[in-house]
Amino acid sequence: MKNVILAIESSCDETSASICIDGKVVNNVIATQEIHSKYGGVVPELASRAHQQAIAPVVKEAMADADIEMSDLSAIGFTQGPGLLGALLVGGAFAKSMALALDIPLIGVHHMKAHILAHFIEDPKPNFPFLCLTVSGGHTQIVRVDNFLDMKVLGQTTDDAVGEAFDKCAKLMGLPYPGGPMIDRLAEDGDENRFTFNETNMAGLDYSFSGIKTGFMNFLNKERMKNPDFVDENKNDISASIQRHLIDMLLEKLRMAADQQGISQIAIAGGVSANSGLRDKLKSLSIEEGWDIFIPAFEYCTDNAGMIAITAYYQWLAGDMAEMSAAPMPRMKF
Ligand code: KG4
Ligand code: ZN
Repeated sequence: MKNVILAIESSCDETSASICIDGKVVNNVIATQEIHSKYGGVVPELASRAHQQAIAPVVKEAMADADIEMSDLSAIGFTQGPGLLGALLVGGAFAKSMALALDIPLIGVHHMKAHILAHFIEDPKPNFPFLCLTVSGGHTQIVRVDNFLDMKVLGQTTDDAVGEAFDKCAKLMGLPYPGGPMIDRLAEDGDENRFTFNETNMAGLDYSFSGIKTGFMNFLNKERMKNPDFVDENKNDISASIQRHLIDMLLEKLRMAADQQGISQIAIAGGVSANSGLRDKLKSLSIEEGWDIFIPAFEYCTDNAGMIAITAYYQWLAGDMAEMSAAPMPRMKF
């Protein structure tokens, strides 16, 4: 009999469902919540409501697209955490109701581990052990991955996540949310060496991104005093320069981790891994360092249920199921 998993992602501002058959992710339906751009960031209460509206149609579409009936399902996977409590509740309650009604197992998935296992959706796949730089709106981590379910955080941010730094810097420039992709686009036509900003460098493999955000804000304030149109007139160079800083900070620690661990299989994951500057610099660095690098397809970089489905599949193989009483865990431990 085939193993058919329906997976649901609802941790932030994407409602997504995916079907995985015998370890192969066959689709990945994503409904992005546009409402937040009006407010310059994700509004948790609005996210929960939008998930409520989107979840049934998104699940229905994934099932219909894969030609799957309710009775074909072997298990339901869902993002248990970390994420926004109200948002997680919607996906969790939906997943539980289906699992209860169908009397099939429920699998609680860790969102950040799923970002890493997104590398096992398509070829080429990394070999164990590998390092993964996981960069999203809520996290920045260097993780050593010894097996599908055996991962250890080697270093992480002590304050803001790098995606948050991208978004906050974009907001300071007056760009709409989410600012990361906007900075990426503007940076393409900019001079990345034109401006420098004060940054904080942490010891070891940890990161800090709040210092650079303050350095960037002070820089903009100073320049705006001299010329109120400074940002408008220089947005490409400003974007390229802040992007260069953030990427250099990320890659410096990644290089340290690779040296320390003696590992040359290097992956990136999470929303910021969609950044073209990061992708390009990682490619050049891999040639210098002799790394094999793994960059997920765009579709699997930002939040998606495909990554939840593949992770649920490996948890299912390991017998790692959740209780029907499983509660959402906004701060789920790694
Ligand atoms: O993984 P993700 O979709 O959601 C979280 O789990 O946080 O990551 C979202 C983050 C946002 O901060 C967004 O601005 C950033 O990823 N992001 C980017 C790009 N695409 C998404 N940052 C820089 N360049 C991009 N192209
Ligand atoms: Zn994410």
